Amino acid sequence: MHDANFLIENNARHFWHPMAHPAEMQAQPPKIITAAEGVEVTDVHGQRLLDAVGGLWNVNLGYSCQPVKDAIRDQLDRLPYYSAFRGTSPGPAIELSYVLRQWFEADGLARAFFTSGGSDSVETALRLTRQYHKIRGQHDRTKFISLKQGYHGTHFGGASVNGNAKFRRNYEPLLPGCFHIPAPWPYRNPYDETDPAKLARLCARALDEEIAFQGPDTVAAFIMEPVLGSGGVIPPDPSFMPLVREICDRHGVLLIADEVITAFGRTGAWTGSRLYAVKPDLMCIAKALTNGYYPMGATMISEGVAEAFENNHDAFGNIGHGYTYSAHPVGAAAALAALEETERLKVADNAKARGQEMIAACRDLKARHEIVGDVRGQGLMICLELVSDRAAKTPAAKETVNTVFETTYQAGVMVRVSGHNVILSPPLIVSAADVARIVTALDAGLAAAKPA
Ligand SMILES: Cc1ncc(COP(=O)(O)O)c(C=O)c1O
Repeated sequence: MHDANFLIENNARHFWHPMAHPAEMQAQPPKIITAAEGVEVTDVHGQRLLDAVGGLWNVNLGYSCQPVKDAIRDQLDRLPYYSAFRGTSPGPAIELSYVLRQWFEADGLARAFFTSGGSDSVETALRLTRQYHKIRGQHDRTKFISLKQGYHGTHFGGASVNGNAKFRRNYEPLLPGCFHIPAPWPYRNPYDETDPAKLARLCARALDEEIAFQGPDTVAAFIMEPVLGSGGVIPPDPSFMPLVREICDRHGVLLIADEVITAFGRTGAWTGSRLYAVKPDLMCIAKALTNGYYPMGATMISEGVAEAFENNHDAFGNIGHGYTYSAHPVGAAAALAALEETERLKVADNAKARGQEMIAACRDLKARHEIVGDVRGQGLMICLELVSDRAAKTPAAKETVNTVFETTYQAGVMVRVSGHNVILSPPLIVSAADVARIVTALDAGLAAAKPA
């Protein structure tokens, strides 16, 4: 093992970071994280930080979840790998599929297709929806509609339904046949509508009209995050997802809930779909499935969609899709342990209670810091949008956002900055004292960014 100097000298030299400019990473090397315990991480200089990012929305149970660590170690000893391609099933994946069916029964989901992460789960969902329609003889149903501001990972399919130019522009041309409608985002929307319920109706109408415009018999699916995450934490009015469900049903369009962030309690409910009392046709999950300790995801499939595949007896039902690491036994063992802990610790309840405390405290920060233009959130996913001019909603400058990040960091808390947004997504096991510590550090960060 090399020492700290080696890490510092070689930081950002030999690997490129996701979602970053390599030249910028070399000019301003990122923080080096070398250890973690509980809800804290430690950097290469020995500074301990409360991780208000929760890894990357995934370490819901914190960094000391012994049952998951033990399950991974034991599974490595028993069966470190076997494939699930036709002819074999790794044992733990069978157990996990049984548990997931129970876990997602309330969402109407009955089958799992295992993947290696969120982008894979989205890709799988997009493919399966097209295939579903082909099985049913509706070969023209190939188009996808999604929300602007939505984030659905980085595979070409996911990037094509992604609603942010930042993740699309450098990789165009993307998949043809993908269309976007406005997100139900009261702070910024093309209708200048600040009433969330009215806005939900306008956005839902945009979906209805887009489907009609495209021709309902050409649309395969609508994909949405129940609460938009990476695009700036946008919780829609509770009426939005039920309206979407009704429109999709009316046009025979499948509804994909991308719950890579929201499944397993982060919104204060066990799933985002359940929060809004909607049953999707497919659901993408990953991240907290293994508490982030092992890369694994799944696409969950409803009884109705499953029936179409399982009752089919021609080549259209054959799944020509899958990954070497689909149903990985170590990932499955990690997930089984993580789900047991997730349930035992009732983390959804804690996310709800701590989320309410945190958003109230962040609104208080907004009242005291002119730089905070908007605060929004649901459960333990919260965004503070930083602006240089509240009335004009001008995004804060990069240097200002960096000052907020650095000062908050020096005060002992890691937050995530994404553009001009500060995003908070701590582990779901945080205490009220942890929430207070996050807010106090952020207060210092925002104070440092005040214009002289
Ligand atoms: C809603 C959503 N979908 C998909 C993804 C992609 O997941 P991954 O980065 O594991 O590929 C993410 C990642 O943040 C996400 O937030």
